[in-house]
Amino acid sequence: MIDQIEQLRNSAEAAVTACSTVADLEEQRVKWLGRKAELPNLLRGIRELPADQRGPAGQAANQARTSIEALIDSRTSELAAAEMLLNLATDSVDPTLPGDPQPVPGRLHLLTQTRREIEDVFLGLGYAIAEGPEVESVAFNFDALNHHPTHPARSRTDTFYVDSETLLRTHTSPVQIRSMIDQPPPIRVIAPGRVYRRDDDATHTPQFHQIEGLAVDEGLSLADLKGTLLAFAKAIFGSDREIRLRPHFFPFTEPSVEIDVSCFACEGGKSGAGERCNVCRGAGWIEILGAGMVDPNVFAYVGDHQPAYADRDLQGFAFGLGVERIAMLKHSVPDLRLLYTNDLRFLRQFG
Ligand code: DAH
Repeated sequence: MIDQIEQLRNSAEAAVTACSTVADLEEQRVKWLGRKAELPNLLRGIRELPADQRGPAGQAANQARTSIEALIDSRTSELAAAEMLLNLATDSVDPTLPGDPQPVPGRLHLLTQTRREIEDVFLGLGYAIAEGPEVESVAFNFDALNHHPTHPARSRTDTFYVDSETLLRTHTSPVQIRSMIDQPPPIRVIAPGRVYRRDDDATHTPQFHQIEGLAVDEGLSLADLKGTLLAFAKAIFGSDREIRLRPHFFPFTEPSVEIDVSCFACEGGKSGAGERCNVCRGAGWIEILGAGMVDPNVFAYVGDHQPAYADRDLQGFAFGLGVERIAMLKHSVPDLRLLYTNDLRFLRQFG
């Protein structure tokens, strides 16, 4: 029996040594050590041997099994390592190659496109871009901007307060104050950014985007404001546009105006074939933004924090527009919520 075991062990080890793949080795493992293989069979036969032969035969069989097993294991790790090196050398992956199928390139969201388009216009007019925090002080959001303590925008039903001195800014106008405190005149800045109000319906969302504008210098007048905004309206809505100023009220400008642009859909009513234009509803004009001359009370507040503005004969003009509104007007977007629901069928139409 011991001879038989030795023979078996020699053939097994020879077969294992001859294997050249991990898969072949697994076959050999089953063949020599599996439940139906010869060696386990021999082991089962040991108990029929005379008592004095059982010990040595059992020992020889066990040794044979451990030795074959060890050989298969070590050959397996050798071959596996070699196979991995070969795979690394031959199946190299280049992660910089474009995907297959090629991914569709992304595009900028309509609001980002619109904001950048407006920024470009004012950069071209010599304005710089300023930024301010979305979590703003009540002082900069309201007091510095000449809002009376009873102004309705200050109410808790209109505005998101963090605490009694801090809120989510309701407009980008506080960046006017920050810009002036930061730098002496002359100033020409625009300030794009998010603003927040407790509003939510087809034409209002609790968060939206504005762009503020501010110019401060000596000798500025409403004529400068008008010329600047006319250039803006032509750049965004077409070179044939005209603008008009209507008296209005904002706490931080005096006088204040609302700016209308002549309707780009019906050419200000001139091209109308008698039908009612559904962009301007027949008015010929579309309201696009609020503006005005910086109120002396605003300069007085700033002067208390930045001496370059104290007791000076300065004038300034300011304006504020809604990015959503400009995008919707320009592209005839019927519902504000389309800008926020990320429907690709809508978004893919732009850019
Ligand atoms: N802050 C105003 C608002 O949110 C918009 C505005 C109006 C800004 C007139 C201005 C301005 O700078 O002069 O309704």
